[in-house]
Amino acid sequence: MDMAMRPRRLRTSETLRRMVRETRVSKSALIYPTFVVEGQGRQEEIPSMAGQYRYSVDKLLYKAEEMLEAGIDKMMIFGIPDHKDACGSEAYAEHGVVQQAMAALKARFPELYLIGDVCMCEYTSHGHCGILEGDYVDNDKTLPYIARIAASQAAAGADMVAPSDMMDGRVAAIRAALDEAGFVKTPIFSYAVKYASAFYGPFREAADSAPAFGDRKAYQMDWHNRREAVKEALADVAEGADLLMVKPALAYGDIISEVKAVTDVPVGAYSVSGEYSMIKTCAAHGYVDETAIMCEVAGAAFRAGADVYLTYFAKELARAMEEGRLG
Ligand code: PBG
Repeated sequence: MDMAMRPRRLRTSETLRRMVRETRVSKSALIYPTFVVEGQGRQEEIPSMAGQYRYSVDKLLYKAEEMLEAGIDKMMIFGIPDHKDACGSEAYAEHGVVQQAMAALKARFPELYLIGDVCMCEYTSHGHCGILEGDYVDNDKTLPYIARIAASQAAAGADMVAPSDMMDGRVAAIRAALDEAGFVKTPIFSYAVKYASAFYGPFREAADSAPAFGDRKAYQMDWHNRREAVKEALADVAEGADLLMVKPALAYGDIISEVKAVTDVPVGAYSVSGEYSMIKTCAAHGYVDETAIMCEVAGAAFRAGADVYLTYFAKELARAMEEGRLG
């Protein structure tokens, strides 16, 4: 056969395939999200997320050490308080569960980079991400709370804050609050493009944050939309976002690519709880190879353009990278 181009030529050996690989990955791009609860000596497995736990602060320190040893030096902390109220006051309490966790982690592991998820749903009695006006989450009434939560996390030791509430104008409000409190150097990693997604199901069990009524569609985005992602991304950059997040990651590769193309800030992708649980559950049944699927799904997010990847599989991915199974 007379063929000038034979794409298979570059696939003949692992050495060659690795040489011409288009997507390279690194442990330094991984962030591990985890959950902290009040009390002592608690380490409770989350039923819907096999292998993931809720830790009290003392136990979280051991987990952090394990992650650092695995080469993961960035964690995102979600707090689950005992006491919830209408305005989520534990989210900005000086000795709230997240604030305690941040302070303890920072004191023990100064090299651990801490990112605070800034939202209210884990802290409100009604489970919504803001202040209610009747059944509606009032945008402008919520902003001062979000800003206050961000500043209190920074004061407790957060190196970066990541608002996930989806209120309009929250990045500007947070920037002003951080600057005023002297945290000029604290970057904002905005969940600019966060869809109202069924993929968050297991997280809501983990964080006890399901809305008591209704859903989040009046603030999180409609997953039918792509151009709206551009609108959200550009708005947050204009307000001062340092990094942007697309969430979920799996099934949103087109959105990651689009946001990467239209902005000039680093783009993160959050592989959310439902993505993790689907893989774990299928693998537990023996239907798929867990490590292979995990690598392929993560690789797809990087291929789409993600610079940063949040994943409950952070440790396992780090090991897979060391073994040359991806990137
Ligand atoms: C808080 C928040 C959620 C997630 C991250 N931050 C839940 C939600 O919006 O309902 C989901 C993360 C995951 O599913 O892993 N608003």
